[in-house]
Amino acid sequence: MRQIILKGRPDGMPSLDTFQFINEDVPDRNQDEVLLKTLYLSVDPYMRGRMSDEPSYVKPFEVGKPLNGRIIAQVIESKVDKLKEGDIVTGIFPWQEYIVAFPNELRRLDVHELPISSALGVLGTPGLTAYFGMYHIGEPKEGETVVVSSAAGAVGSIAGQLAQKRGARVVGIVGSRTKADYIIETLGFDDAVNYKNEDVGKGLKTKCPDGIDVYFENVGGEISDDVWPLLNTFARVPLCGAISAYNLASDEEDIGTRVQWPFLKARIKMQGFIVGDYSEHFSDAYKELTQLVKKDELHFEETILEGFDRVPEAFIGLFSGDNIGKQLVKVAEPDK
Ligand SMILES: NC(=O)c1ccc[n+]([C@@H]2O[C@H](COP(=O)([O-])OP(=O)(O)OC[C@H]3O[C@@H](n4cnc5c(N)ncnc54)[C@H](OP(=O)(O)O)[C@@H]3O)[C@@H](O)[C@H]2O)c1
Repeated sequence: MRQIILKGRPDGMPSLDTFQFINEDVPDRNQDEVLLKTLYLSVDPYMRGRMSDEPSYVKPFEVGKPLNGRIIAQVIESKVDKLKEGDIVTGIFPWQEYIVAFPNELRRLDVHELPISSALGVLGTPGLTAYFGMYHIGEPKEGETVVVSSAAGAVGSIAGQLAQKRGARVVGIVGSRTKADYIIETLGFDDAVNYKNEDVGKGLKTKCPDGIDVYFENVGGEISDDVWPLLNTFARVPLCGAISAYNLASDEEDIGTRVQWPFLKARIKMQGFIVGDYSEHFSDAYKELTQLVKKDELHFEETILEGFDRVPEAFIGLFSGDNIGKQLVKVAEPDK
């Protein structure tokens, strides 16, 4: 089977050369383990942080060792009671085509409910991140204005729709005309600013005439510097990500506007969070998101590249905006 290892730590933007495909034997399985075939693999922006040797909330990947992340897989050999052959499961595992796992490392998915891939997107980490960031930190209220950056992405597309469910007016910041059309026409956002062809500050000023009450922060950098002056008194900023800084080279610095004094004057709350902080509330959020999707009240998109060999391309594409909604790689078809 094939496995993807971290060949070397990137300085700046990763390239195809950051990754190496190697051939490994399919691991041996003990009686109390199951053998899985990888079906879908998630590539996520935070993985870029793990490619650098810097302390963070999650350990760096090791050079020469497999990268890992959340996958969806099918059980193809099992002698344990809890799981049978054919079951579809999810867990966090190395990027490889076959996996040996203990049942307690896996969550079985209900394949009759929704497409199984949604467990990596709207009904997985991105959906939960949007939910907790928006509802527990952003707390949008009826009639308020919410701005979401990376608004057509996996987290942003859900965060914006959730804000609308609280009666807020929602404007998204995106990197293309296609994405602007998508968030307005398909997701129902009220307006969009395309940071690649318009001035973000001017665009937002026009499109948010009452100022901004919640800014769901996914990107950081100059885009966000243009948002700060438009924040209203008592605005909230769920600080979910800062993707514009993830690929800075070692000799580049992430320098921008100083916010302390203006934030103090306007009593603005900015709170960084990691979705795992809310793990004890996951099951309630999951139920609510599932209901919304089933009732067709929460739309989601997946950009799926086919083939294990396309994992590096899918990952790098996150940083050039190739994806709409959740970026996934389909590795194999499930057996019937
Ligand atoms: N705190 C948590 O627990 C948590 C959990 C999950 C994700 N996150 C964070 O949430 C953010 C979104 O993650 P996601 O999985 O939903 O990814 P995503 O938004 O689906 O994909 C990344 C998108 O970011 C935009 N982008 C890339 N480089 C950019 C740059 N230099 N400046 C501005 N925009 C850029 C691109 O869209 P455009 O075409 O619009 O530029 C790209 O499509 C990331 O910052 C991620 O690290 C945080």
